[in-house]
Amino acid sequence: MKICMIGAGYVGLVGGACFADLGNTVYCVDKNKNKISMLNNGEIPIYEPGLNEVVKKNYLSKRLKFTTDLSLAVSSSDIIFICVGTPTSKKNRSADLHFVFKVAAEIAKSIKKFKIIICKSTVPVTTGDKIEKIISKRVNKKLFEVISNPEFLREGEAIRDFRFPDRIVVGSNNKKAINKLKSLYEPLIKKGAKFFSTSRRGAEMIKYASNAFLATKISYINEIANLCEKINVNVEEVSIGIGLDQRIGGRFLRVGPAYGGSCFPKDTKALTVTGEMYNTDLSIIKSVIKSNEKRKILLTTRVKRILSNKIKNKKISFLGVTFKPNTDDMRQSTSLTMIPFLSKNGAKITYYDPTGKKNEFSSLKNVSFCNTIDNACNNADLVIIHTEWEEFKALDFKKLSKKKKFKIFDIRNLYSVKDMKKKGFNYYSIGR
Ligand code: UGA
Repeated sequence: MKICMIGAGYVGLVGGACFADLGNTVYCVDKNKNKISMLNNGEIPIYEPGLNEVVKKNYLSKRLKFTTDLSLAVSSSDIIFICVGTPTSKKNRSADLHFVFKVAAEIAKSIKKFKIIICKSTVPVTTGDKIEKIISKRVNKKLFEVISNPEFLREGEAIRDFRFPDRIVVGSNNKKAINKLKSLYEPLIKKGAKFFSTSRRGAEMIKYASNAFLATKISYINEIANLCEKINVNVEEVSIGIGLDQRIGGRFLRVGPAYGGSCFPKDTKALTVTGEMYNTDLSIIKSVIKSNEKRKILLTTRVKRILSNKIKNKKISFLGVTFKPNTDDMRQSTSLTMIPFLSKNGAKITYYDPTGKKNEFSSLKNVSFCNTIDNACNNADLVIIHTEWEEFKALDFKKLSKKKKFKIFDIRNLYSVKDMKKKGFNYYSIGR
């Protein structure tokens, strides 16, 4: 099939490369000239394991094309995916939809024959209706169909998630369009992905309700961890014990810092706004948002306690600062609350992250990036394992703390309490 992805970000670029890999001809469009010229020069503008190879292979075979020319891409394609960002609005907690609407108006200008227009961007329920209205101002309704097909891939696991999704959700009442999408996704359905079609609004709702539910699971286990710490119970065993109940399921019950990234914080907020618009109190989601915000403070207070309330001049080393491993994304990472607070209170911070130095900390006093774990931990009073990168999972703490014995605060529970105790470390973790 001939497809075009508008917006070459996580969703558009990964989706575009993977659709091309399934044998389709794909145009990836972005208005950012710099990004498109990077892609045409074989450079990948985002950090995503495995993406480079898929892009390269399909670019060379000419199935994957990069362009800033939206009109050319739309007129050359039968299926058009809208994959632009929907960040939190600068004015309130809602999703800012102006990119989506702008793209819809642009698409309308180039429709001469029938097109399926698919919204893959995460958008509040009823956005599909609005996209349809915008396009129908210029184009006869017989010439297009607007469908919702939310994306469920995770940063850092994006290629795998695209190739082996649990489900493909399509929201439309148009049988022909649904069947077209079913054949586009056929190779994934054959491998076991469930294809589920529903109304357009239903599909939009499924995306938000999924993310809010996963965020709720994380906040829930994090609060249970707070209690476990006080009553001498191991939260890891509680996660396993409750997760074995198939009605609950074991995934997304890993304790840690506040959930972060570009999706959960943004989508939970936007969903409560939709609730307000339709006079529905989504009190559970509101309290999840509050609980998650509190968690950032709670962990910072814990650092203070570990250091007996003496932060000034203490050398604190962060291992990992991104919101999760296998990404360079810093959005809504707990480190963005912890590091500025600790530096403001006189701590000397060093950090190491496999994805390098972060602009977010460059203006902070006494915060410096080290390009090795050894350098970051050198002379530290406290080492904080913030992100669960593979390379932090089997560290030789004896060697790292040879010059000076440091305390360890393992926010991701990567190590066994028993082992660390046996080795003589002052080791703190979450809910254990
Ligand atoms: C999330 C969803 O998992 C995807 O299904 C969805 O497509 C995506 O948002 C989106 O809407 O675009 P992502 O934000 O990339 O994906 O990352 P996750 O792996 O879900 O992690 C989100 C946050 O939850 C991270 O801060 C992570 O550390 C935290 N987390 C996750 C936990 O604290 N515990 C867990 O058990 C799982």
